[in-house]
Amino acid sequence: MSDVAAMGEEQARAELARLAAVLQQANAAYHGADAPVMTDAEYDALKARNAAIEARFPLLKRADSPSDQVGAAPGQGFGKVAHSVPMLSLENGFSPEDLGDFVDRVEKFLGAPPGAFTAEPKIDGLSLSLRYENGRLVQAATRGDGETGEDVTANALTIAGIPHQVLDAPEVMEIRGEAYLSHADFAALNAAQVARGDKTFANPRNAAAGSLRQLDAQITAARPLRFFAYTWGALSQPLAATQMGAIQRLAAMGFPTNPLTVLCDGPEAMLAHYRAIEQSRATLGYDIDGVVYKVDDLGLQARLGFRSTTPRWALAHKFPAELAWTRLLAIDIQVGRTGALSPVARLAPVTVGGVVVSNATLHNEDYIAGRDSKGGVIREGRDIRIGDWVQVYRAGDVIPKIADVDLSQRQGEAFAFPQTCPECGSPAHREEGDSVRRCTGGLICPAQGVERLKHFVSRGAFDIEGLGAKQVEMFYNDADLPVRTPADIFTLASRDAASPLKKLKNRDGFGEKSTEKLFAAIEARRTIPLDRLIFALGIRHAGEVAAATIARHYRTWEAFETAITRAEPGNADWNDLLSVDGVGAVLVGSLVEAFANPNERSAIDALVAQLQVQPVEIRAKVDSQIAGKTLVFTGTLEKMTRAEAKARAEALGAKVAGSVSAKTDLLIAGPGAGSKAKEAEKHGVTIISEDDWIALSGLK
Ligand code: IVH
Repeated sequence: MSDVAAMGEEQARAELARLAAVLQQANAAYHGADAPVMTDAEYDALKARNAAIEARFPLLKRADSPSDQVGAAPGQGFGKVAHSVPMLSLENGFSPEDLGDFVDRVEKFLGAPPGAFTAEPKIDGLSLSLRYENGRLVQAATRGDGETGEDVTANALTIAGIPHQVLDAPEVMEIRGEAYLSHADFAALNAAQVARGDKTFANPRNAAAGSLRQLDAQITAARPLRFFAYTWGALSQPLAATQMGAIQRLAAMGFPTNPLTVLCDGPEAMLAHYRAIEQSRATLGYDIDGVVYKVDDLGLQARLGFRSTTPRWALAHKFPAELAWTRLLAIDIQVGRTGALSPVARLAPVTVGGVVVSNATLHNEDYIAGRDSKGGVIREGRDIRIGDWVQVYRAGDVIPKIADVDLSQRQGEAFAFPQTCPECGSPAHREEGDSVRRCTGGLICPAQGVERLKHFVSRGAFDIEGLGAKQVEMFYNDADLPVRTPADIFTLASRDAASPLKKLKNRDGFGEKSTEKLFAAIEARRTIPLDRLIFALGIRHAGEVAAATIARHYRTWEAFETAITRAEPGNADWNDLLSVDGVGAVLVGSLVEAFANPNERSAIDALVAQLQVQPVEIRAKVDSQIAGKTLVFTGTLEKMTRAEAKARAEALGAKVAGSVSAKTDLLIAGPGAGSKAKEAEKHGVTIISEDDWIALSGLK
């Protein structure tokens, strides 16, 4: 195979096309036909090669790039199960400091020490939700995307240890835990696969996933999956008052529970148990990747509640990442949609924790130079140079990073970070206090232009079918139908209709059907929810979560646009947005700056003129009288912290504002309430006490 570093553009394009075809065939053979055409290692190597080419030629990345296809596509043969209680993930920590911060955060939220925590191994398998009705197992589902999983009931029934029938259980009971394979069973399974000439599995987790997601339950039955129960979803009756009590109850019902689950009275005991589990890791006989801490008191868990995807009452303390040494072949500079120049390390491929790695992030120029963002020394000041031997690590599923460098084998010169944009030649500047150097070319920089459009059509944004990264690149440089700004997408069909010659449908790769489909997909997106639109604008710091928060606050495009246009540091519109939970001054500043920039503003106006923006509807939660209402808290709350009150209000669908206005529906006033209470009286806003609030919000 030719060397990626020496490839020309044409060669790269052809190779990407070949790899897409080969990998697609391999996927189909593996997942669909159960007749694999290559080993895991070969597959990984091809995928790594594909990624390496894409990294060198980001503009050539295909719309059907194998890099964007995660493992198994949601199986088609399985029924879908909507989880009545979402299956969430866990916040990760990596150090004793992260553990200490977690305990502090919990205490701060509750306004009192949280008491004991449980600590238990984090099993590296795949999560499974088991639904029991009147004691009988009626359904088993995988996690899926957390909201909807796959119905694997027939398969779960074959897993030894999962009870089919339980006594003394609540009428409805969803028990959740991890399905996994032991090391011994994994080795035996792979040996049997080899003997049959079948594909081997890269690790026990993949093997467990492959085994559970078998359409033929007979195959699952032949694979010795195991299960540990560690949490629950819907329950018609609580299992116990504490996490530990619930786990003991599950054990009594016959569920396998992990014997290394203990109660700890604080961070020191938690860390001691972490170290003990880490020590015994090699002898456990199954894979674990950390320790999970949970607040023991289930009443406190309920008060702590959830962020968007993780509970506030738990932390996964992960074991240190795996490391490997390899050679740094090159440092490429990628220009992102905000103009950030990001250095990427091209590495001689190396396996780190079962995955072939050939790229790693180098963060920014300070990181390469051996400094952190505050000017402090990292790696004892050792810089990173092309040709160096570097230590690569992977933590979880994130992009690999470089931890260290071996000075004894150094030959190269210090890396000179470019001072101009490699894509458009504009000066690249660093703002005071910013660790990132940015291209100042703005909309004239093709890299920024293309990346912004790619972001615009991406999954959480406009998500236009048939208009992916590849098409965006094609249209960006198109002489007849250029698409340079988002608004151009929505004039594509009319421009095509107006041009008598060179119709899109006559081009290679298009044709009548696909052109019609593309135009229909664009048309369908003329109506767009406000949060998607805000996210799609690609304004710095306005990610998906922030965009949703902002959209919920303003509800309509008009309200949002008016406020951002009027906002100036310190004025009412500025402070109003700043009072929203999860919105900081940096984000507000960035929005205001974007709207004040004439070029940006005209691009935004031109886009919105093409659209119907759907306002946000606040979904009323069950039993909530305050859904959709705007609340203000003032004075001292004596029974809960502000953070808890706010989280609780938001969980019930209300909006919490920082100041009283005519839009306020309810003021919750504790002792010492002053000017806000007066303001509320002026506006005729209902004022209630903390006790009324507690009754209203359904807390005891
Ligand atoms: S508790 C609200 N406990 O880790 C979520 N999860 O990274 C409660 N996992 O999706 C999960 N061992 O699949 C919990 N002892 C343990 C676990 C565990 C493994 C998995 C679980 C979860 C993932 C999050």
